[in-house]
Amino acid sequence: MNDAVFELKDVHFSYLGKFPALRGVDINISRGEKIAVIGANGSGKSTLLNLLDGLIFPDKGTIKVFGAELKEDDLNDEDFSKNFRRKVGLVFQNPDVQLFCPTVKEDIVFGPLQLGIGKKEIERRLEELVSR
Ligand SMILES: Nc1ncnc2c1ncn2[C@@H]1O[C@H](COP(=O)(O)OP(=O)(O)OP(=O)(O)O)[C@@H](O)[C@H]1O
Ligand SMILES: [Mg+2]
Repeated sequence: MNDAVFELKDVHFSYLGKFPALRGVDINISRGEKIAVIGANGSGKSTLLNLLDGLIFPDKGTIKVFGAELKEDDLNDEDFSKNFRRKVGLVFQNPDVQLFCPTVKEDIVFGPLQLGIGKKEIERRLEELVSR
């Protein structure tokens, strides 16, 4: 079995096409591995995570996830996107900005709704979480 989760080869990324943030990143991350990315402010840690989460895409180089290349077109495909988002999650640097709904209930159910989880299952999870 291939245990590769992420395979990055020569990944480059520039903001607005002219401010380089990452130049030639090569990383392989396998199932069960725990990785810490350490670096000074502005060294590109968040940029790397945004690439791994398919929020931005390399200018050059490739990112494979579970053996398949992660491409913008594929993430526009609903089935590919749902499958990817079920497996890969990102907690942003400022998680407060991830709370944007008018009620706590809507905030809790937002994620599962985006993943296409059934209404009954969402209700069950909501009840369980709230009671905890
Ligand atoms: N939206 C953006 N537009 C233009 N430049 C950006 C943008 N976001 C980040 N950068 C620049 O890209 C480089 C890498 O930034 P990044 O946020 O990835 O670093 P970081 O390692 O996460 O920093 P920190 O430790 O402060 O969180 C920096 O030079 C930063 O100024
Ligand atoms: Mg950061």
